[in-house]
Amino acid sequence: MLQKKMTVLGLMSGTSADGITSALTSISGKSVKVLCFETFPLKKSVRERILNAAALNLKEISRLNAELGILFAAAARKISKGRAVDIIGSHGQTLWHGPRDNPPNTFQIGEPAFIAEQMKRPVIADFRPQDIASGGQGAPLIAGFDQFLYGQGPLRAVLNIGGIANVSFVGENKLWSSFDTGPGNCLMDLAMRILSSGKKSIDQNGRLASQGKSDPDKVKKWLRLPYFNKYPPKSLDRNEFGEKFLRDHFGKLRRGDLPDILAALADFTALSVAWSIQKFAPRKVSEVIVSGGGALNPFLMKKLSQALSPVSVLSSESLGMPVMAKEAACFAWLAYRAFLRLPNNCPAATGARGPRILGKIIHPAP
Ligand SMILES: Nc1ncnc2c1ncn2[C@@H]1O[C@H](COP(=O)(O)OP(=O)(O)O)[C@@H](O)[C@H]1O
Ligand SMILES: [Mg+2]
Repeated sequence: MLQKKMTVLGLMSGTSADGITSALTSISGKSVKVLCFETFPLKKSVRERILNAAALNLKEISRLNAELGILFAAAARKISKGRAVDIIGSHGQTLWHGPRDNPPNTFQIGEPAFIAEQMKRPVIADFRPQDIASGGQGAPLIAGFDQFLYGQGPLRAVLNIGGIANVSFVGENKLWSSFDTGPGNCLMDLAMRILSSGKKSIDQNGRLASQGKSDPDKVKKWLRLPYFNKYPPKSLDRNEFGEKFLRDHFGKLRRGDLPDILAALADFTALSVAWSIQKFAPRKVSEVIVSGGGALNPFLMKKLSQALSPVSVLSSESLGMPVMAKEAACFAWLAYRAFLRLPNNCPAATGARGPRILGKIIHPAP
């Protein structure tokens, strides 16, 4: 089938709930080029409701769905700056991801109808549920995109460090596997929020962590959690590495201990990623390509390089994909494929029964 060139806008808000990343891309059957992108930070009041969604009542969830839809629409409008956009792909905001619940389920909000109204273009959204309905984990959906971008090269690990971290092994024209490795930035962000009484949400550039001292025994113990030995397909909800984890392992959280806590958590993220790559790669990978906000944290990247040495760790930026734009670009690409009625799921990654065209379409006014 002729795969024509289209201008596709991708929208993503990940488990960190730091902001809505909006990326304008040019996509053809052969390439994805990010034309421009920006992350529009979420107001504290919105972020807090997302991160504490389990405490919201039905009325509040319904309202948040509309509020986020309006914010996604604004993020789309601001990045397009009046330029012609063919279609839009929106991931929405995950409030719950329960692939191991009975029945398995996943829940993204951010009403796409507001985006279609604002942009007057078709919007494709809500990609995960059909993967779950077809027996998959509903995640990681980025695997097909990793294969598209890097599949032709040698065997490599493609890592995204968002709230949760995930890796795909791709290369030699094949996707080998893709799964969540464990925590990305979520535990570090949470420790910052709790111990700054909500004033700070990230340890900028890992500055505090670099002043702390890790606790190797604790980290070793965490790495023995059953999830890390489980074979893929597997995926995680952010809450599996949430407040309970911090309180169970650090007891009473003291502000003076923050640098040490952050240092241990950075070690945990780096070592769980390295473990996942070493244990589950089909063979030794030639390099590790990193994207996501974690790639902007030099302290975490240093820990990761040490943990993976002698395998080299590089940013996706050096291969032409800005680290913060990659996931938004992925949802643009998933939408592009859905619009052309091409399968966009990745059974090898999620465990789905077969090829599916993920995403629901919202038509603009005729
Ligand atoms: N300069 C930085 N220093 C430290 N951490 C950073 C920096 N920039 C981004 N991050 C981390 O990246 C996270 C956002 O990454 P992102 O890829 O958007 O994750 P998600 O997909 O979960 O939203 C922030 O919450 C923060 O933890
Ligand atoms: Mg984000």
